[in-house]
Amino acid sequence: MDYRKPHPELYGVPWTTDEFNGMPYRLLGASGLRVSNVGLGTWKIGYPETGDGSRVDEKTALHIFDRAVELGVTFWDTANRYNNASGNSERVIGTWLKSNPDQRRNIVLATKVFGGMDGFTPNHSRLSRGNILDSVYASLKRLQVDHIDLLYFHSFDPDTPVEESLSAVEDLIRQDLVRYFGVSNFTVDQLSLYRAVENETSIRCRVIAVQNQFDILHGESDSYQGVLEYAAHTGISFVAWSPLARGLLTEKYLDLSKVGPGDRLYDEGTLEKDTSKPVMEKLHKLASLAHEWGLKLNQLAIAYMLTLPGMGPIIASVSSVQQVESNAAAGKIALNDEQKRRIREVLINEDKGV
Ligand SMILES: NC(=O)c1ccc[n+]([C@@H]2O[C@H](COP(=O)([O-])OP(=O)(O)OC[C@H]3O[C@@H](n4cnc5c(N)ncnc54)[C@H](OP(=O)(O)O)[C@@H]3O)[C@@H](O)[C@H]2O)c1
Repeated sequence: MDYRKPHPELYGVPWTTDEFNGMPYRLLGASGLRVSNVGLGTWKIGYPETGDGSRVDEKTALHIFDRAVELGVTFWDTANRYNNASGNSERVIGTWLKSNPDQRRNIVLATKVFGGMDGFTPNHSRLSRGNILDSVYASLKRLQVDHIDLLYFHSFDPDTPVEESLSAVEDLIRQDLVRYFGVSNFTVDQLSLYRAVENETSIRCRVIAVQNQFDILHGESDSYQGVLEYAAHTGISFVAWSPLARGLLTEKYLDLSKVGPGDRLYDEGTLEKDTSKPVMEKLHKLASLAHEWGLKLNQLAIAYMLTLPGMGPIIASVSSVQQVESNAAAGKIALNDEQKRRIREVLINEDKGV
């Protein structure tokens, strides 16, 4: 018997259910960590009044966090650099955790290291031992916690030896400052290199999640093709960033005449590029399927993603309590084979296909 693998055939009666506040959970990669089907992206949370580039202020964010927990949305995603390398997304989460200490164990908190933010020499960024350790110490302070549940490398570093980076994370795990490890914006070759180092050295630190761009309209981005399939076969969960295509896969862009300031694609200046005729046609077909089944477009997108082999939790960002409520409801939807077939029929003409 392989003692390194799970053995569900030997399990007795489980001590807990795999849900919290009505939200189903799923395992993150080949680990014992369970995460809510629908999580929360916090990239756009900060202090917009300071010009940090965020969209969601502290007051709104604190309401969103309260409601997220009530809905079982407990897998929270942030990064040290979010909002012009300000650390403000982590700071707002820290403010909430400080005033809700009883909730700390309910939240699975993920953050990232790589880019420079709090210094200017060449040693203030990338995946050297020094930058990893200093970045994690700074994140722990901003988050006001004593450990990070999941630490991602935000990008691949071609210059630093992989063993140096992984052994820094291993040391953090030994000190219980970090509990699990993932990577972000990695190609299949980069993931394979990490897996080889994990297998061929004595370092005890394994990638259990990869966070790359993915949504059902566009699939994986060009340079990162094949990662979802690789993840599905190697005990890694694929955590999609921008899973709603920055809001395109929601009801709000179905009538473009109503889109304007306050809507993300408009504010970010990509509305015209993102809403070409073929994309809009597809969007309307998906929306009519969703409506036929009593769902919203964002719910169909999330529920469908959750059925894809290798897919981890869905970490959409939200700008309001209503949005997190709508997204959370999708975490419980189990699409049947016929529904999945009809969604695929709409998506299948995509060059990249999903
Ligand atoms: N690892 C990386 O390099 C990386 C890169 C990007 C993002 N991320 C992570 O991925 C998370 C999600 O990505 P994202 O924010 O780019 O895109 P997203 O989740 O695809 O889209 C979020 C946007 O969609 C709109 N929205 C969400 N739920 C809605 C609903 N129910 N109804 C209507 N509109 C809704 C909101 O826009 P409005 O503000 O217009 O309402 C929101 O800002 C981020 O928070 C971050 O944690 C990681």
